[in-house]
Amino acid sequence: MIRAGYNSPTTPTTCPPPSIYTMRFTMPLLVLSLTIACGSGGGSDNSPPPGGGATVSFQTDVLPLFQQDCNLCHGGAGGLSVQSYAGVMSGGDSGAAVVVGDPDESLIIKRLEGTIQPQMPRDLPALSQAEIDVIRLWIAEGALDN
Ligand code: HEC
Repeated sequence: MIRAGYNSPTTPTTCPPPSIYTMRFTMPLLVLSLTIACGSGGGSDNSPPPGGGATVSFQTDVLPLFQQDCNLCHGGAGGLSVQSYAGVMSGGDSGAAVVVGDPDESLIIKRLEGTIQPQMPRDLPALSQAEIDVIRLWIAEGALDN
């Protein structure tokens, strides 16, 4: 291992200048570490906005959708109540309806989008994608009681 400062600038000319060794070994490492640092800074994932500032409110944005389209049956259909935050978070017969931070894995989204049948709201027209996206975003932002 070459130690910094071991070869003084007065090294006899029979040896290659120390800077050549240094460049050959450190440059690829430098490029590699820059690549890793930049590669992870893309910010293209769907994590919540920085600072924890949720943009969707359960009470004002999400609950009204449930009240409008789900309460008819979900005082308890499928073991699920969507009449309150606690009800939604305690899930139904199949377990959790919401996987905090992960809309794609949340049963409630799968049922609303029909990737698991029967699609909800059962026997009624599906929610619009814009309405489902509100619920998606609420889950992505941490499914807060806000
Ligand atoms: C007309 C009645 C009806 C309406 C309206 C309805 N559901 Fe359901 N839902 C059911 C029934 C019955 C089940 C249980 C049988 C099943 O799993 O299909 C169920 C099951 C579910 C489940 C699975 C529960 C579990 O743990 O297995 C979810 C999630 C769900 N509904 C969400 C919703 C949401 C969200 C809405 C409103 C957008 C809604 N449902 C509207 C009747 C309804």
